[in-house]
Amino acid sequence: MNFFRLMIYSRATSALKHSFARRGRGVVIDHTACIQSSGFMTIDDFTWLQRYVQLTAPLIEMKTPPSGPVLKIGKRVQIGPRCFFSAVHDISIEDDVLFGPNVYIADHTHAYEAPETPIKDQGLTPYGRLRIGTGAWIGTNAVIIAAGKDITIGPGAVVSANSVVTHSVPARSVVAGSPARVIKRYDEAVGRWRPVIPARRRVGGAA
Ligand SMILES: CC(C)(COP(=O)(O)OP(=O)(O)OC[C@H]1O[C@@H](n2cnc3c(N)ncnc32)[C@H](O)[C@@H]1OP(=O)(O)O)[C@@H](O)C(=O)NCCC(=O)NCCS
Repeated sequence: MNFFRLMIYSRATSALKHSFARRGRGVVIDHTACIQSSGFMTIDDFTWLQRYVQLTAPLIEMKTPPSGPVLKIGKRVQIGPRCFFSAVHDISIEDDVLFGPNVYIADHTHAYEAPETPIKDQGLTPYGRLRIGTGAWIGTNAVIIAAGKDITIGPGAVVSANSVVTHSVPARSVVAGSPARVIKRYDEAVGRWRPVIPARRRVGGAA
């Protein structure tokens, strides 16, 4: 199937399959995407969900259904193949965010306080809020979980491939690793990116 026909097919099938709380113009959802509880999600103009993306608002995990949308996706957001987004409380993705393949984001995780009880039966941790700022880039295989606290990925930030993000990321910075640490920042004064050298590698830093 050529690209044009694929776009038409994806639009037609997704319009029939998914009923979002709000759906903008020109949204493209590949027909392989899996969206559960789309009534608790909003998706804005010209956003594009690529192959095998999965969006879920897992009602089965919630004590009561949410009172409004829990996953809000802005305009012109590009979501790469096999990304998995799970929202029970508040995930907001602002305009023009780019996701590479296989990104996992959630605003909750499983509780594991009671070792005698299987974790699958322990319910969820307290929820956090996750906000991903305008124009950010989330690289392949990144994991971002806002469980029990709020996490903001600042506008224009870069989350490197394979990062595990456990804290907020400043605007216009690059983070990498697990747990993710800032490795570069945009220096507004000189108008270019500068590396951030970890303390242990600085002359006189800890070993
Ligand atoms: C974030 C990224 C853009 C950084 O690129 P860059 O600015 O050119 O960074 P550099 O190559 O100058 O690397 C700077 C340092 O960070 C390290 N680094 C870069 N990417 C890293 C990663 N993903 N994990 C851990 N460390 C990383 C480098 O090894 C280097 O460390 P060093 O100074 O000790 O040698 C790139 O590494 C990346 O992850 N891209 C994502 C690609 C992707 O997922 N594409 C999907 C298509 S949307």
